Amino acid sequence: MKILNEMKIILPSNSVNEGAARAAVSSFLIQADPTVEELSDIRTAVSEAVTNAIVHGYRGTKGNIEIIVRLLSEREIYIRIKDRGCGISDVKQAMEPLFTTAPEEERSGLGFSVMESFTDKLRVSSKTGKGTTVTMRKRLGCNGNC
Ligand SMILES: Nc1ncnc2c1ncn2[C@@H]1O[C@H](COP(=O)(O)OP(=O)(O)O)[C@@H](O)[C@H]1O
Ligand SMILES: [Mg+2]
Repeated sequence: MKILNEMKIILPSNSVNEGAARAAVSSFLIQADPTVEELSDIRTAVSEAVTNAIVHGYRGTKGNIEIIVRLLSEREIYIRIKDRGCGISDVKQAMEPLFTTAPEEERSGLGFSVMESFTDKLRVSSKTGKGTTVTMRKRLGCNGNC
């Protein structure tokens, strides 16, 4: 699919940057004229992925989070969120609803489930000690633009 436009941002893993990432991604995507609901779904999915990078990936340390957003042909949105943190030893287990390694922090274990249900496609690749990359795709409806 053709890349029509692209944004790359790198943010340090300060917790305040969860909001900054969400705001940056949604302002970039305004040009695609998404519905309020589509934009809200994307914002939520981005928040979950960035929060995970901050609280799990870089737990006890600091590092950068790299975000790429692409606007593709046929109103497809591609979002990649990458950290170079601790990584996930068992991705399949981590993606199960309610699974969390931080129950004492009252984490719900639903972050990946939210990303999955608010986008069309979710891919998670991770290597222990190397980091985690979350890729999401979502096709926007016509909303008068087709
Ligand atoms: N970027 C990441 N780096 C390291 N571990 C992660 C990352 N994202 C998710 N995880 C692991 O996957 C688990 C499930 O994530 P999630 O579904 O968002 O639930 P929660 O964040 O509530 O624990 C986390 O508890 C954590 O162990
Ligand atoms: Mg989470």
